[in-house]
Amino acid sequence: MTKKYGILTSGGDCQGLNTAIRGVAKALYEECDDIKIYGFLDGYRGLIQNDYKEMKPQDFSGILTLGGTILGTSRQPFKEIDNPVDPDDPKSPTRLDAMVKTYEKLKLDGLIILGGNGTHKSAYSLHKRGLKVITLPKTIDNDLWGTEMTFGFQSAVNIATQVIDSIHTTATSHGRVFIIELMGHKAGWLTLHAGIAGGADIILIPEIPYSIDALIEGLKKRQSQKKKFSIIAIAEGALSTDEAAMSKKEFKKFRSDSTAPSVGYQLAQELEKKTGQEIRVTVPGHFQRGGQPSPYDRVLATSLGTAAAKQITLGNFGVMMGLQNHQIVPIPLEEVAGKIKQVPLDSLLIDSARAIGTVFGDE
Ligand code: F6P
Repeated sequence: MTKKYGILTSGGDCQGLNTAIRGVAKALYEECDDIKIYGFLDGYRGLIQNDYKEMKPQDFSGILTLGGTILGTSRQPFKEIDNPVDPDDPKSPTRLDAMVKTYEKLKLDGLIILGGNGTHKSAYSLHKRGLKVITLPKTIDNDLWGTEMTFGFQSAVNIATQVIDSIHTTATSHGRVFIIELMGHKAGWLTLHAGIAGGADIILIPEIPYSIDALIEGLKKRQSQKKKFSIIAIAEGALSTDEAAMSKKEFKKFRSDSTAPSVGYQLAQELEKKTGQEIRVTVPGHFQRGGQPSPYDRVLATSLGTAAAKQITLGNFGVMMGLQNHQIVPIPLEEVAGKIKQVPLDSLLIDSARAIGTVFGDE
């Protein structure tokens, strides 16, 4: 009997999504004699609105190195999962009910979901409703619980490091402070890795609130060592100690009252005011999620995708495929959903950066 599987990519895109889609699909076609794969368009939106296309084996060829996602993606916040699909229709099903309905209508034998943190909360809800769900961890933030590495992360580290490298050559010509603001709202993995790889003098991440005085000390120390320039890598979610002490409400107001468009500019304003030094800010933004996946991400995404296909053939659902101790293993969704993997404060990476004099702003 024909087995039918759905597949979707949800949340922010990243490098390696197409590689992973290709890995799952090719391995399933190899493994099973008679299957159909339905690609839901724009993530959970396609599942909610019954918007899909039946894929053919050739759809999964030629996409190994392609950035973005051939299925499209969108952000469908988990907190809205119990909201009606149509708020103006009192008989409207909830978004969760609508997704279950699409799955049942198509008589799917499984659903493969590629996503990050928010996506996993929704995937777990679908699993609890009895859907046969299997997930793959994607995000440039590398902040998914249960896996040492997400695909997309190493490609973004490569790009962010190139940005710091380029700024470095300019910095050697000018006596200035350069701030590079990198992605990562809740976790500083990307900024930490790129900061170390690019030799940033100051690294600011959400896990370690910084004091402006400690930063000024760090800048002064470099000046006293006759260093012409300083490079600060700051994650978009980094906070000062004052901000970390604020309530959620106070913090929201503080940020919305700021004339700076983002944390990098806000830090520049403060440091310029207090030190009189000339400061330049670079924000590579979505550049970090774009372009071809790195070879590492191609290998990881292929390994995760093919391992997911294996679990599907074994009938093991309700799991995310993750990397643990150099092995790809299934991890129950209930262990993954709702948790964030932040940089541990006793991380060896932080220790080794401190050992070469990198400032984190908490000293
Ligand atoms: O989750 C990946 C990520 O790139 C974060 O690093 C960043 O904060 C966010 O997505 C940006 O989201 P959007 O593309 O929706 O602006």
